[in-house]
Order: sequence, then C-alpha cells, then structure tokens
Amino acid sequence: MSIVIAVDGTAASGKGTLAKKLAKHFGFPHLDSGALYRLTALGVLEAGGDPANEADAVKAARAVDYARSADPAIRPDAVGAMASKVAAIPAVRQALFEFQHRFVETPPEGAPGAVVDGRDIGTVIAPDATAKLFVDASPAVRAHRRWLELKSMGIERLEADLEAELVARDAQDRSRAVSPLCQAEDADLLDTSNLGIDAAFAAALALVEPKVKGQLEAKPRG
Ligand code: DC
Repeated sequence: MSIVIAVDGTAASGKGTLAKKLAKHFGFPHLDSGALYRLTALGVLEAGGDPANEADAVKAARAVDYARSADPAIRPDAVGAMASKVAAIPAVRQALFEFQHRFVETPPEGAPGAVVDGRDIGTVIAPDATAKLFVDASPAVRAHRRWLELKSMGIERLEADLEAELVARDAQDRSRAVSPLCQAEDADLLDTSNLGIDAAFAAALALVEPKVKGQLEAKPRG
C-alpha cells in the first residue's frame, strides 16, 4: 500500500504550497487535483462550450491532460470560480476520479508515496490515506495573501472583493451534493491564520511525519 498524504482545505488556504513542500521533503510526487478541475473549466472555454452544460463539461474533463497543470492560463480567479462550478457535476468528478485514484494507488515512477491536495482527497479519493490535513485560515487572511500575490504580479484587486469571492467559492464547494469540501473525521486541522509559510510547514510536518515514518517502518522491504 502506498503512503498517501492528503491535504484538503479551503480556497487559497495555502494547501498547495504546503503539499508541494511536503512532497519535496519526502521525495514523493505531488498531484494538484484542483488543476484537474481548472483544466476542465479551461477546456470548456477553449471549446466555446458552456460550463453549466453537463455534456460540455464531461467532454472537457475526459480530455484533461495533467501535463498542462503548470499552464498559467488556469490560475486566474475566474477560472477557479468556473472550476468550482464544473466540480459540482457528478459526472465530471467521475471522469476525473480514475486518474486521481491511480495516482494514489500507484504513484508515478515507482515512488513509495504521493502527496495530493484538493477538497475530497481524505474523504473520497484516498479515505485510507496515511496522513490527512485540513488546511484553513480566516477569509480575511486568505484574501490578504491572495491580494499580495496578485499585487506582486501587477494585478490590482480590492481585498474585500477577493474575500467575498473566496467565501462564495467555499460555500459552493461545501454545499454540493457529491464529494463536498469537508474535513475528514480523521484529518488534523491546520489553521494557518497566524502562521507564516515556514511555521505552517513546520506544523504540517509535525503532524504528518510520525505517520509517514510509521508506515515506512511497517512496510515490508524488498
Ligand atoms: O484548489 P483549487 O483552488 O485549484 O480548486 C479549484 C476548484 O476545483 C475548487 O473551488 C473546487 C474544485 N476542486 C474540487 O472540487 N475537488 C478537488 N479535489 C479539488 C478542487
């Protein structure tokens, strides 16, 4: 059984950054599952389709190529909002399930483990994950971090608008019928409202490392 670190959490909570750092620390591949939904949304747009149309969204989901996950075109907040919409369609989630499931069951390049961030990793994709984190921060803090990030890219947005968008996206992700955003019962909550990135990573590692070590030691060699 592979070692799986599931990092779920709210929008712009820093879960992606933490997941990447954890992956680097343990030498495991990282899957940004949000990118799959963002690529689906972008695919619908590129095909001139309607994200609210199930057939258009499912077609785009089936055509997703994770190799495009670093494409900056999927990063704008408008694409995130649209990703949240297509993510509420059960057939879209179904279409993206197999790729995620394979990634955690058989991590790429024979790695012993994987780190996956998203909304339903600890609840649906990898319910038996070795370690589960649920990352959150207050909406005001998340909006401020996003505002700083956008500002550094030369994009001026009102912090209050960013906060309202994050809250709306979380509400949409929490209220969908299938695989909603929620903390798994056995996940550790990591509130990073008062933590910088180094402190947040140290806190994440303190929660995850003992579990990973435990499973590595329990693994039969050979
Ligand atoms: O993590 P992110 O902001 O890139 O995710 C974009 C949207 O994709 C998010 O608002 C909801 C959806 N998503 C999901 O439903 N399930 C996941 N495992 C990951 C993302």
